[in-house]
Order: sequence, then C-alpha cells, then structure tokens
Amino acid sequence: TSPETITIEGKSYQKDSWHNLPPNITSSISRRLHVQKDHPISITRSIIESRFPSPTYAHHNTLFPIVSTYQNFDSLGFPLDHPGRSKTDTYYINASTVLRTHTSAHQADTFRANASEGFLISADVYRRDAIDRSHYPVFHQMEGARMWDRSKVLNGDIAKAVWADMEKLSKHGMKVEDPNPPTHEERNPLQSEHSLQEAEAIAAHLKRSLELVVVEIFTRAKQAALKADPSFIDEPLRVRWIEAYFPFTSPSWELEVFWQGDWLEVLGCGVVKQDLFKNADVPDQLGWAFGIGLERIAMLLFEIPDIRLFWSKDPRFLDQFKGVSEDLDKLRKFVPFSKYPACYKDVAFWLKSSSSAAGGGGMEMEFHENDVMEIVRDAAGDIVEDVSMTDSFVHPKTGRKSLCYRVNYRSLERTLTNEEANEVHERVRGALVEKLGVELR
Ligand code: PHE
Repeated sequence: TSPETITIEGKSYQKDSWHNLPPNITSSISRRLHVQKDHPISITRSIIESRFPSPTYAHHNTLFPIVSTYQNFDSLGFPLDHPGRSKTDTYYINASTVLRTHTSAHQADTFRANASEGFLISADVYRRDAIDRSHYPVFHQMEGARMWDRSKVLNGDIAKAVWADMEKLSKHGMKVEDPNPPTHEERNPLQSEHSLQEAEAIAAHLKRSLELVVVEIFTRAKQAALKADPSFIDEPLRVRWIEAYFPFTSPSWELEVFWQGDWLEVLGCGVVKQDLFKNADVPDQLGWAFGIGLERIAMLLFEIPDIRLFWSKDPRFLDQFKGVSEDLDKLRKFVPFSKYPACYKDVAFWLKSSSSAAGGGGMEMEFHENDVMEIVRDAAGDIVEDVSMTDSFVHPKTGRKSLCYRVNYRSLERTLTNEEANEVHERVRGALVEKLGVELR
C-alpha cells in the first residue's frame, strides 16, 4: 500500500506513523497574524523591529513553518532524548518533518547565508500544550541575532555601541538587576573557543540591546495604561537577568520584567555556541541570539485577557487596533466586549490498561495530558477556555487509574446555551473513548 500524503500550502508530504497533525492546526497556517496589518501581534512585531533597524538587521517575516527535525533540533544541538522532540510536545508531519516549535529552527540556515550582520525572524510556531487563557497550540515568536567577524569583536566597535546604548538607557531610570557573574563554570559556562573578554563584549551588547527593547515596549504599555486610567501609578521599570540553559547558547539568560506585581519572563537569549557557526560554514563568526514570544508581549501591551482573541475575526476585536501601525501613539488598551458566561462540564474516565493479567495493578497505557488537550481542542474548537485535571486516583483493588478533567466552555463572541455545551461535551467524551480508549465513568 502506498503511504498517504498530505498537502499543506501547495507542498506534499508523505505521512508515516509519526504523523499527529490535526486539521484545525493545519488551517491556522494560512492566517499569518504576524504580518496582518493592524493586528496586535503584527504591531508588537514592528515595535520590537524598530529597535533593530535594517540594513544591519535583515527582517524575515515569511519563512515557511514546516521544517526538518534537523533544522528544528539537531542543528541546534538538541540531544536525541530531549523531551521537546517527543510526539506529545511537537506536531510531526512525518518522522523527519515537523511544524517548527521555535523560530530558532532557522538560525543555522540564516547564519549559513551570512547575508547581513544581524537578523530578525518573526513567525508562527507550533507546540502541543495545555489549554488555558495564555496557551494556544499556535503562537508567534521573534528570533534575533547579531554576528561579528572574530577579528572585530574586540576592536572597540562593540564597546562603542554598548556605551551609546547605556547612554540611552540612563535616561529612562530603569532598574536592572544582574547579580550573577557574566559566566559561571557549572551554571553558565564560557565556551572553550571564547576568551572571557569576547564573551563579555558580546553579552554586554546583547543585554543592553534587549534592555532597550523592554524600555520601548513598556514605555508604550505604561502610556496606554495611563490613558485608560489616569490614576495608574507610574513606577520605574524593574528588570532582572536570570541564568538559563539552552542547547545552542552559552552562557544563556532569561530576562524578566516586574509588571503589575509579578516577575514576568519575557525572553531567552545567549552567546551562540561556536559549533553552530562551524556547522553553518561560518566558523569565524561570533555572536548572540534571542527568542521572544509575541503573544505574551501583546497581551500585556494591549491588556488582552485571552490568547484565543488573537484568532478572532470579530470586528469588535480587530477594529480596536485600526490605524495603530501608522501611528503607534494611537495605541490603546483593548476594551473587552462583554464577557459571556462560562459553562463547565466534567469528564471522568478509567485509563486503558495494557494488560489486566500483569498481576497486581495493570500497567497504564502511555498517557500524556497533551493528548486530552488536543482531543478537546479538536472536538470543541475555540469555545474551550481551559481544561484542568480536578481528580486522580488509583483503585485500591484493581489498580486502575481514574482521572477527572473539568472543561470550561465559553465563547468570546456570544452566549453558549447549555444544550450547545452539552452537545459539544458529548463529542469530547466520544472522542476520548475513540482516540484514547478510555472507559467513561
Ligand atoms: N528558542 C528558544 C525558545 O523557544 C528561545 C531562544 C532563542 C533562546 C534564541 C536563546 C536564543 O525557548
């Protein structure tokens, strides 16, 4: 039998046993929210782009979302057993082809092309994940990178640029906490190919560039908050650098911003591993890279309360951002249209046992919560607001495991009737039985 194929955006792919792509995901590929005029994701993109102007930074906004596992993982040094590679976390077209899980999938190719000193890549990315108001299986990231010829890293140009940035930063009175040393032998190692001075110069350029991004975004967020509420207390911005780990940078950091009482993680970054440059045939380049999630920034910038709204075609959503692309001073907080009532339904089930004869407790079949999430999303679409496990226990005699999930249904656009919610919930229950082989209780 000839294996089935799937055609996405005019390209055909062979399916195999790795294929796990539901149709609702495939159809979102064509939306391209990050380049849709006056869409909040697109506005957020252009605000960040303004800090990294062309021609120093080439802006790539149309890279195709389907990549090889080599691009998405191997080129970045992800080990073979990295959890990100599993079918429970990633959408596979087939064993060697995925929907990119991050914009870093394009780093190596863009380094190899070596067409500019730096670049930004904005794009849709795809991850199997929980369902709640801040998680959606499709979201948008921006990747940034800057490279230098090794011979130029310590020639004074970087130092000069860093001083200029520090001068700009000093005018904003932002409080930066950076308590850790620039590198740390165990926690955040210097690469053996780099001298400490090289890593420090690159790290300083990276950190100051990103602090200016934060100033740009949060100054605008504050202005919008003040316009909506003149009693909004305008306190100095606080940010902090946290040590981090990514397989393709070292040392690495996350940047957190203190916003409305909480430390909020806004981006990951680091000094690019020299192996990446070597494998991309540009061994004499050194540089930094960062990755930032656009939804999270847009949600705070516009005070958008639910990530599903970005996918709404309702003019009551979209019309609120009209004209902002041309004039960023028109940026205003989103005014929610009335919140429609929620309706929750529970579903409890016994997990399928692979063998009841296994003596004592039957072994559960491999179960991953993301499968439940996807089945619910697939059967109910965007009227699911969140899904959470409310109970779990093991039967003392049979050893079988029971789980209960609560599904919260709410449309962003209208009131759901109870009958409608029941109907959808029946579909969810049926799909759980059919696809996971569970026994409903
Ligand atoms: N790709 C990383 C993520 O999605 C972010 C990142 C990009 C980190 C570039 C370091 C450098 O989490």
